[in-house]
Amino acid sequence: MANLGNHRFHLLCGFQLFLLMQLQYKVFCYQYKVGDLDAWGIPTSANPLVYAKWSKYHNFAIGDSLLFLYPPSQDSVIQVTEQSYNSCNITDPILYMNNGNSLFNITSEGNFYFASGEPGHCEKKQKLHITVGNASAYSPSYGPSALPEIAPSYTNVFGSIPHPPSSSIALSVSVAITAVVVSAACAIICGIM
Ligand SMILES: *[C@@H]1O[C@H](CO)[C@@H](O)[C@H](O)[C@H]1NC(C)=O
Ligand SMILES: *[C@@H]1O[C@H](CO)[C@@H](O)[C@H](O)[C@H]1NC(C)=O
Ligand SMILES: *[C@@H]1O[C@H](CO)[C@@H](O)[C@H](O)[C@H]1NC(C)=O
Repeated sequence: MANLGNHRFHLLCGFQLFLLMQLQYKVFCYQYKVGDLDAWGIPTSANPLVYAKWSKYHNFAIGDSLLFLYPPSQDSVIQVTEQSYNSCNITDPILYMNNGNSLFNITSEGNFYFASGEPGHCEKKQKLHITVGNASAYSPSYGPSALPEIAPSYTNVFGSIPHPPSSSIALSVSVAITAVVVSAACAIICGIM
C-alpha cells in the first residue's frame, strides 16, 4: 500500500510539473529575436521562407515583444496592413522603425504584419506575419517538442555570428524550477503589478 501511495505521489508531482510547464509557457513574456536571426534582412536562398516558418512555430502572447536587429543604415521595419503585406505596398506603413534595434511590443491579440521598409525587400520575402492569441483558429499549434525540427543554424547575410541558444528555451528551463519565481517574474516583467 505504501508503495502504491508513493507511486501516486510521483505521478501527481509529474502531473503538476507538466501543468506548471504548460502554465509558464502561457504566462511568461518573451522577447523574440525575429527569425532567430542576428540580422533582419532578405532571406537567403538557402532559407527563403525563414520568417514564415519561424512565426508558424511560435505562440505569441500579449506582453511578448519582437526584436528586429539589423544594420540601421541598411534596413528598417514597418508594420503594415494585411493588404499591404500581401501586395508589398510599403508606401503608407502603420509604424516605421529604423534604429537597427527595433522592439515591437505586442499589446493586443490579432494578426500583425511586418515588412522591410526598403524598396524591393518585401518582394524578396523579407516580411513577417504573426498571430497573437487564439493561434489554433488560424494554424495548427506545435508543442515545444516540434522546435528541434526548425533548429538548423541559419546562415545570415552579415557573416556567421554564432548565436546563443534561444533565450526562450533557456527561460523555459529555469522557469520550470519554481512556480513562485514564474509568477513573480512574470508579474514584474509584464508590468501587471
Ligand atoms: C498603397 O497603399 C496606399 C495607402 O493605403 C494607397 O493609397 C496606394 O494606392 C497603394 N498603392 C498600390 C500600388 O496599391
Ligand atoms: C516597446 O517597449 C520598449 C521598452 O518599453 C520601448 O523602448 C520601445 O520603444 C517600444 N516599442 C514601440 C514600437 O513602441
Ligand atoms: C479558438 O478558435 C476556435 C476556432 O475559431 C474556436 O472554436 C475556439 O473556441 C477558440 N478558442 C478560444 C479560447 O477563443
